[in-house]
Amino acid sequence: MKRIIVGFAAMCFATVMHAQNNAPQLRADNIDEVVSAMTLDEKVRILVGTGMPGVDVGMPVVGSTRSLVPGAAGTTYPIPRLGIPAIVLSDGPAGLRIDPKRDFYSKTYYCTWFPIGTCLASSWNTELVEQVGKAIGEEVRDYGADVLLAPGNNIHRNPLCGRNFEYYSEDPILSGNIAAAYILGIQKNGVGTSLKHFAFNNQETNRMGNDAQVSQRAAREIYLKAFEIPVKKAQPWTIMSSYNKVNGTFTSERYDLLTTILRDEWGFKGAVMTDWFGGKNRAANVMAGNDMIQPGLPFDPDSIKAGLNDGRITEQALNRNVRRILELIVKTPRFKGQANNDNPDLQGHAKVTREAATEGITLLKNEDGTLPFGKRIKNVAVYGSTSYDILAGGSGSGSVNTSYTISLIEGLRNNGYTSDPAILETYRDFIQAFQAEARKKQTSWFDTPPHAGEFLPAADSLKMQAARNDAAIITIGRNAGEGGDRHRDLFYLNDTERQMITNICEAFHKAGKKVVVLLNIDGVIETASWKDIPDAILLPWQCGQEGGNSMADVISGARYPSGKLPMTFPIQVEDHLSSKNIPLNAPQVRPTVGQKETGEQTNLIDYTRYEEGIYVGYRYFDTFQKNVSYPFGYGLSYTTFNFSDPTVKADENTVTVSVTITNTGNAVGKEVAEVYVTAPKGAVEKPAQELKAFAKTRELKPGESQTLTMTIDKADLASFNEKQSAWVVDSGTYTFKIGASSRDIKGSATAKLSGMKQKVHNVLK
Ligand code: BGC
Repeated sequence: MKRIIVGFAAMCFATVMHAQNNAPQLRADNIDEVVSAMTLDEKVRILVGTGMPGVDVGMPVVGSTRSLVPGAAGTTYPIPRLGIPAIVLSDGPAGLRIDPKRDFYSKTYYCTWFPIGTCLASSWNTELVEQVGKAIGEEVRDYGADVLLAPGNNIHRNPLCGRNFEYYSEDPILSGNIAAAYILGIQKNGVGTSLKHFAFNNQETNRMGNDAQVSQRAAREIYLKAFEIPVKKAQPWTIMSSYNKVNGTFTSERYDLLTTILRDEWGFKGAVMTDWFGGKNRAANVMAGNDMIQPGLPFDPDSIKAGLNDGRITEQALNRNVRRILELIVKTPRFKGQANNDNPDLQGHAKVTREAATEGITLLKNEDGTLPFGKRIKNVAVYGSTSYDILAGGSGSGSVNTSYTISLIEGLRNNGYTSDPAILETYRDFIQAFQAEARKKQTSWFDTPPHAGEFLPAADSLKMQAARNDAAIITIGRNAGEGGDRHRDLFYLNDTERQMITNICEAFHKAGKKVVVLLNIDGVIETASWKDIPDAILLPWQCGQEGGNSMADVISGARYPSGKLPMTFPIQVEDHLSSKNIPLNAPQVRPTVGQKETGEQTNLIDYTRYEEGIYVGYRYFDTFQKNVSYPFGYGLSYTTFNFSDPTVKADENTVTVSVTITNTGNAVGKEVAEVYVTAPKGAVEKPAQELKAFAKTRELKPGESQTLTMTIDKADLASFNEKQSAWVVDSGTYTFKIGASSRDIKGSATAKLSGMKQKVHNVLK
């Protein structure tokens, strides 16, 4: 008997050894063979990540995955027996987010902090965004990460969403095209992206449990359109499902979203992963086509196994998801054995971000040629704490560990201006005192760091400062971050800020000097009540580590503003139709791992009704002719442009729109042609106009012209008809209006189009 047991054990050992020796090693062309060679445990295990370094939820450490790229958000599960490495997933989107320092090493691993998504979108320049993506992707590759968890591409449904800064626009055509460009740029480096958060993650309040209740039409035309465009144009390697539910079910559990729409209708070829610790029902995740659970909780593998045992998960779905993960892995630099040099071109990328930010900077007001300062101005009085302590970007996973940031003061100095040293001293003391206190309160990197706020300069000092300086700049700052929404109060200036602008303008105007207000903000703020007071208003957003240089380059005239608003600036936040259904005074609900279901349903926390339907942003304001402070697409320049010869040509499937833009002023500049379409009446109600295409000129010298030609697929003129589950292009006359904003139409042309209809699945009910 003993002999038999020994013999059996030896036989088993021999079999294992044989299997190990002959186990297929993963290659791009043997994925099916490797899947067949995987044990059930291995298949289950590879569906789950290896935990999130720094967040201890009891996930066992797997080999040395955590030290592959310290500070990365996670990795996939490695199976060395089959030659399957762990690949590294790391945040974005404003740059690569990794730890800048490593234990026992003096070398540093700083990354470049690029402008926030909203600033990039304000450039309306897809080529430029692709260059930024290319530079970010180089850092991803050079520091040894495989997939950047970016871009963030949720629609700005309302100005108060705490993560709008990472996102692009209130319009899906602009968002989608900017996201596509960003992805193309990154993936040119042979590394991947994760288009996130798919979808309807339009508020941070209870983001892990909130149910977005949205009509099929608004879902298709607004929120999903923003994802459909980059999926079709840029094929991101991965997509991150969102934390929230949509119409009652977590997005990560919806087959109709992750398979029917994403893969069957749009042709997505990559892998889907959960957002970090998102989703609940692992069997539903697997079946829906949410291939990977990231970063994984200790019980996730067992939950998947339980699903397999009781039939909630089919073997076919398991194999399908495993195959998709392997298809992702074989594309990565880590799999290909491409060594990382840990030496990205940080100096080159500093130039990229400095330049890119200038194109996102949007000029809202410029009376009497206040800007650029040029050589007329030498001494500048600089106010506002964020002039000295710049907000380079937002907080949370979208922040970047950069080695430096350039303040406005430094930028001004680099552009040859002298800032008033006495004012600087006052701010230095004020900010230092504040920071000492604030540091004590901030408990984690995840908390949005408050900035110092403002104080009122004394009247007699102001008088002297106005006498000895040539002009004044006042910066207003706002910050936000992941995990909480912006509070309504922060949409408005507070009393001190308002009074500060009034007092400084009064003192400087009395002395015959100009005042510029600079908005170093993460999202839309109220401007209507105070915009008449200063002479110029410049909106740089949070524009990356070189922000102070970028702003001062535009202020001096070394560069010029050519940004256009990617969203409306309303008069009051309540003017947005969506404000009826957003947490206006957001309880700052933080995500908690394994949040409890209470059973009790609270409006705006457990569910949010998207009652405004398709009337998001300018689609609402323009259709219902509501006054706004600054319309969608608005932005001035240092020069003037003329739009001429708007023409439209249509054939069976495409419409071609062209316009000639001429620089009619005295300075160089770039202009954007925004094509808004008014569709004929049909079975469903339509917005007054919708952006369908846009293009930006190259740099035009005074007198120079450029003809911009844009093509629109006729199918993209469709509205979604819920009754028919179809995209319908109604036959009739379409007006193509070409404007410099949604409310500044320069010319238009019409085309008679025949109707068309494309049926899709009746899903997301
Ligand atoms: C965020 C994602 C991010 C992930 C990994 C989550 O909290 O929502 O955007 O990619 O963490 O850090």
